[in-house]
Amino acid sequence: MVLAEELKNYTKSAHAALEGRMIPAIKSIRTGGDYTRLLRLFYGYYAALETKIAPQVCDKLPDFEARRKAQSILSDMAAIDGGSVAATTLCNTLPDITSYPQALGAMYVLEGSTLGGQIISNMIRQRLQEAGGALSFFEGYGEQTAAMWQRFKLLLEDDFSETEKAALLYAANDTFVSFQKWIAAHDAR
Ligand code: HEM
Repeated sequence: MVLAEELKNYTKSAHAALEGRMIPAIKSIRTGGDYTRLLRLFYGYYAALETKIAPQVCDKLPDFEARRKAQSILSDMAAIDGGSVAATTLCNTLPDITSYPQALGAMYVLEGSTLGGQIISNMIRQRLQEAGGALSFFEGYGEQTAAMWQRFKLLLEDDFSETEKAALLYAANDTFVSFQKWIAAHDAR
């Protein structure tokens, strides 16, 4: 089985669990404050994780900077909050990422989230009109989303040893699991 398929299978139940947790959180959004709280949860995890991934991929992934998403979360928070971005706690229970394969496993999760993001942004738009101009994070790469995903998956076609593959798979699953724990610990709803 090719690595991209293996990753999808290996993380299927972790994805389903996260999705099951997120859908009620999104459905309960009524106000700008509710949306800001959701963005803050994503920021606390994505910003910390991207910082941890960066040193492992900087010489291998020329478009890493273009794929970073924390800044767009901050812009959306500023847009919905009228400019004030309250101090946000950063997650410090992150997956172990000290190698390129581990970093790629974590990136698989962050990049794949742009696919679900297309659904999430529609759900939020329906519930909160004022979020219309503050959806850059969940809209991901917009019309480029499928192309960016295909390009990311090419990185998974490199030659990895069995040990590297195992580390990559584990890091991906751990990224889902630790994100879910982070949400569970901080989502007051
Ligand atoms: C309400 C929440 C979510 C929904 C409804 C959702 C839905 C989806 C859907 C429909 C796909 C498949 C898209 C396709 O094959 O074209 C997908 C893929 C994916 N999603 Fe989600 N998602 C959600 C949240 C998330 C989150 C929060 C993350 C990560 C932080 C995530 C990570 C992924 C990954 C990694 C894939 C790629 C799976 C693969 O094909 O290998 N999703 N999601």
